Amino acid sequence: MRILERLDELYAIGGGPGANRPHGSAEEDAAHVLAAAWMEHASLTVEVDPSGNLIGRAASAGQRLQQSVASEVWVGSHLDTVPRGGRFDGALGVVAGIEAVERAGRGTVAVFRGEEVGCVGSRALVARGGGLPRAFLELHVEQGPVLESAGVPLGVVTAIVGYARGELVFEGRAGHAGTTPMSARQDALVAAADGILRIRGAAQAIEGAVATVGTLEVEPGGSNVIPDRVRISVDARAPDMERLEQLIAAIGFEPDTPTAPVAMAEEPRRFLREEIERLGLPAVELPSGAGHDAGILAAAGVSSAMLFVRSLNGGVSHSPEELSSKQDIELAVGVLTATLARM
Ligand code: HGY
Ligand code: MN
Ligand code: MN
Repeated sequence: MRILERLDELYAIGGGPGANRPHGSAEEDAAHVLAAAWMEHASLTVEVDPSGNLIGRAASAGQRLQQSVASEVWVGSHLDTVPRGGRFDGALGVVAGIEAVERAGRGTVAVFRGEEVGCVGSRALVARGGGLPRAFLELHVEQGPVLESAGVPLGVVTAIVGYARGELVFEGRAGHAGTTPMSARQDALVAAADGILRIRGAAQAIEGAVATVGTLEVEPGGSNVIPDRVRISVDARAPDMERLEQLIAAIGFEPDTPTAPVAMAEEPRRFLREEIERLGLPAVELPSGAGHDAGILAAAGVSSAMLFVRSLNGGVSHSPEELSSKQDIELAVGVLTATLARM
């Protein structure tokens, strides 16, 4: 299956374990070069926008002159990954998008830069004003356990979670590990440890909220030196803005760019449900706890929807264990193609 072979080619770029194509790296660039070649092989008109996003259009350059971007329907996702990421996160939406446009003979494929570090490419597209499509469909692995638990291969996203990312810094006083009495210490790492447990407690106290500390930097970083400065990352999420603001306040940090929860558009959601039901499958609807480029475009008024493919292995993602089946992927590409053709 060409899609799986292409996913293997992308996975091989970062050298393992897991997918390693961080935003701004030669590996992300190499993945974009591969995707551009696949677009050209599909006879798409390929361009790179001012933010480095890759755009492939089924329309010929001549037709392009007539139609405006605002009339277009885009499909796609991202090719950057988290460290030791999964084989399918982002990549599946890109490879399946190229397949769907090629099969439907219409549509535009978009490969956004830097989704994992705040949807850099899709936010830049929106900030540039104009140049937005009429509609956007993103095929993505669920990255959670809902579809596997329900025993169904596909799902339609209702809304994308609200999230806030930032950091907290804990200050202390450097000192000698051997000569400084425990009672005389200002240990920044112990303070950070307390802070991390407090962050966990804050999320546990709010229904549906989650919070994660994924990185921690200790200064000065000697094993026999009491740390005097610790910086931790904070990733806080909640299903609605009220609970997100509650969580931010409880954690006590200043997030970079809080992103409000956003609903997916009714019409493309209905098309996706109908195409799933046409296969005799139940059209399960579910919220996304992960952020996506579709959320950025939806918040900018683009009629956006997401089709989820079942994640196996308990829904694990952002891990080399991320897994979806060939059968489920084939079903998903068929639904994406049929929905694109209807739009
Ligand atoms: O972190 C997220 O929600 C997404 O995978 N970027
Ligand atoms: Mn993703
Ligand atoms: Mn991701």
